[in-house]
Amino acid sequence: MKLLHIDSSALGAGSVTRELSAAIVARWADSVPDLQVRYRDLDSDPLPHLNGHALAKADPAAAAEAEEILGGFLEADVVVVGAPMYNFTVPSTLKAWIDRIAVAGRTFRYTENGPEGLAGAKKVIIASGRGGMHQDAPSDFQEPFLRFLFGFLGVTDITFVRAEGVALSSDHRQSAVTQALASIPEPVREAA
Ligand SMILES: Cc1cc2nc3c(=O)[nH]c(=O)nc-3n(C[C@H](O)[C@H](O)[C@H](O)COP(=O)(O)O)c2cc1C
Repeated sequence: MKLLHIDSSALGAGSVTRELSAAIVARWADSVPDLQVRYRDLDSDPLPHLNGHALAKADPAAAAEAEEILGGFLEADVVVVGAPMYNFTVPSTLKAWIDRIAVAGRTFRYTENGPEGLAGAKKVIIASGRGGMHQDAPSDFQEPFLRFLFGFLGVTDITFVRAEGVALSSDHRQSAVTQALASIPEPVREAA
């Protein structure tokens, strides 16, 4: 079984989403002895923006890296994404990764009946951290975006492990992280 672990927080050791994503992955590693984990830290090892040069595949090394990123996503049974809210949406480093996995003909396609996701047979777990309270609020362009995006790619098994309001006070931060850690779902061997 293959697990892809992505982090994108710029806050290093103080990051809430890094703590949550690491705890989720540790839980899977404990439950699945033969688990193969691939990790990418998009903060220390960012991908370039998807610009015209990249779309044209003008640079063979960059094109090979893009293929590697897409392949890593496609082959994963479980994808754990550390996704902080930055300026109401996801960090631009995470968006750069998303731009490499949302590829027409590979992870989705358009048909006469509309778009069709091609990457459905996997479980996606989002470790979400937000400074304020945004659930069901119009300010939330982070979780609904991620839910829609992975749904568009065909993924129906999406779970959010959320620590919200972490900037409100240190007490609130601590209880939000404790609650989020307690809400981590039990791993199941079969991918959805
Ligand atoms: C650059 C930056 C932008 C942020 N923007 C928002 C925001 O728009 N709304 C919010 O509620 N919190 C915002 N925050 C707070 C983060 O969502 C919060 O610190 C969360 O814990 C981030 O996850 P992390 O600790 O893993 O980086 C921002 C933090 C940073 C560093």
